[in-house]
Amino acid sequence: MTQQQTITIRRPDDWHVHLRDGVMMQGVLGFTARQFARAIVMPNLSPPVADVAAAQSYRERILAALPEGRSFQPLMTCYLTDDSDPAEIARGFAAGIFTAAKLYPANATTNSAQGVTAVRNIMPVLERMQQTGMPLLVHGEVTDHEVDIFDREAVFIERILDKLVRDLPDLKIVFEHITTSEAVQFVQSAGPKIAATITPQHLQINRNAILAGGLRPHFYCLPVAKREEHRIALRKAAISGSPKFFLGTDSAPHERGAKESSCGCAGIFNAPHALESYAAVFDEENALDRLEAFASEFGPRFYGLPLNEGTVTLQRAEVQVPESLTIAGGEIVPYHAGQVIGWRLVE
Ligand code: NCD
Ligand code: ZN
Repeated sequence: MTQQQTITIRRPDDWHVHLRDGVMMQGVLGFTARQFARAIVMPNLSPPVADVAAAQSYRERILAALPEGRSFQPLMTCYLTDDSDPAEIARGFAAGIFTAAKLYPANATTNSAQGVTAVRNIMPVLERMQQTGMPLLVHGEVTDHEVDIFDREAVFIERILDKLVRDLPDLKIVFEHITTSEAVQFVQSAGPKIAATITPQHLQINRNAILAGGLRPHFYCLPVAKREEHRIALRKAAISGSPKFFLGTDSAPHERGAKESSCGCAGIFNAPHALESYAAVFDEENALDRLEAFASEFGPRFYGLPLNEGTVTLQRAEVQVPESLTIAGGEIVPYHAGQVIGWRLVE
């Protein structure tokens, strides 16, 4: 059989990205806007994007920073805190400023100190979201110091998510950046209101990439990559054709020095070659015909948004990824640094 050389798909979206702010945003935004028509923009700035006014002005800063002639729609999210006001969140959703709200368990990850300390504290918000059809995006890890970091996602399902889904059966929930077979199983067996995003790195690396043969901080993100069996389960889910699993890169840039440090930040900057990276995975799985639905259809369908017009084309080609990128905002080591990816996005 001859190898497929190109693939053209409906223009995709990124359902989970960190665009940062200020100079860093100036440097990273173009990479996402080059590939994706829309993106769900994470609100974990410092201070967090926790009300309508903050989201409105963040959206304006993103639009102002867009490279000339790029059409790109940032979809804003509201950072939930113990003090979130149901009326404010409903107002932002009704006005089209907020597309979703994000639950960070307090101290689970970067800039989550003001996150939610117990789900019961935001029950009135979640009930209102259930009524209005506003999706809840969840960072699914417990923060209990007694729980091993590799078990924090599975324990979150047991202790929190399972009950949340039973208490609010009509709430739309996206279980973000899943990393375990337990999460795949949970999402598959839950009803149609529950979906998940999957990052390129969790389809490609297991924890050896971080820890074997030297400590490699540029493969460290949260939730941390798990054992090989989990990576395989995630791959199966991504290529399964189930509308419950869709693209969310979790591109999370940190300046090189902040990662190569005695206490390095969590986050992988995969935006430069995200779509190409997913294409390589689907190609390896002989599932290129499933890429379009994962990248461009299941996300908007879940969110209740129209599919994008237009297409993008990927071509089989050797793309050499640089060891590091110097952009506005500093030097960042991208995902796949120094490696060759087998697909190129045709401009
Ligand atoms: C993200 C960041 O740096 O903002 N880091 C990460 O490792 N994914 C936060 C997050 O999504 O957990
Ligand atoms: Zn994230």
